[in-house]
Amino acid sequence: MKKFLKLFQIVTLLLLINLQSFAAEKVDYLKTDWSFKGLFGKFDRASLQRGYQVYTEVCAACHSMKYLSYRNLAEEGGPEFSVDQAKAIAASFEVVDGPNADGEMFTRPAKLSDKFVMPYENEKAAQAANGGAYPPDMSVLVKARGGGVDYIYSLLQGYEEAPSGITLDEGVHYNKFMYGNKIKMAAPLSDGIVEYGDGTIASVEQMSKDVTSFLMWAAEPHLEARHKMGFKAIVYLIILTTLVYFSMKKIWSRVKSEV
Ligand code: HEC
Repeated sequence: MKKFLKLFQIVTLLLLINLQSFAAEKVDYLKTDWSFKGLFGKFDRASLQRGYQVYTEVCAACHSMKYLSYRNLAEEGGPEFSVDQAKAIAASFEVVDGPNADGEMFTRPAKLSDKFVMPYENEKAAQAANGGAYPPDMSVLVKARGGGVDYIYSLLQGYEEAPSGITLDEGVHYNKFMYGNKIKMAAPLSDGIVEYGDGTIASVEQMSKDVTSFLMWAAEPHLEARHKMGFKAIVYLIILTTLVYFSMKKIWSRVKSEV
């Protein structure tokens, strides 16, 4: 039994070290509690829904999310809007379809199967409208930046007056979390820029958290399923270790010890 306890201790210790290394990442970013981190992490539905609102009312003016479809908004493990809500969201956008019988393209309201509409016709148009800088597609942006969610959460709140001695060109802004501190995106958020339907106060901090959670889900739509699976695997391994330990004891019990 002693040996078994020891083994159990080692396994728990290894798990803890693993979780610790998660927490110890990148100390200098702003911190917040992410509900989706850790072994049992899950998304906060209300936050994802608010995050979608921030994306669509603010960020979508410049940033595309070309891998997402409106139906994803109603899928399990995401913001989980009802199918009717997702349909209504889709229908509030117009997409170009066609050609029709006369060979002409036409516009119609978007359907669940349509991809999120793009803010610009193409990359060049996006650059031209943003002083030469391209607002990156946000579908997997969380994965494309070191620091992930903590970086994006911090960046959105990292706008400051440039310290004396640093000159900024036209259209360039100072942000203490941007690489090189210069960014060609003006601070996109300000208190109350959106009005949340659930009564949550739309502070810059709150909106940063909500929209970043939403981006995390977009980049990792299967996070919850993965966490569930990981948990099952651990339970399975613990049971297996227990069984192996006791059967080993049983088998060797017939061998007389020399001591
Ligand atoms: C008016 C247009 C505009 C809006 C609105 C906008 N952005 Fe941006 N964003 C840009 C541009 C342009 C860049 C590229 C900046 C650069 O490379 O200097 C950018 C870059 C970024 C980056 C990447 C920074 C990096 O590490 O390269 C993030 C993250 C980002 N935006 C998040 C957001 C979020 C979240 C919102 C909505 C709350 C938003 N943006 C709204 C124009 C915009």
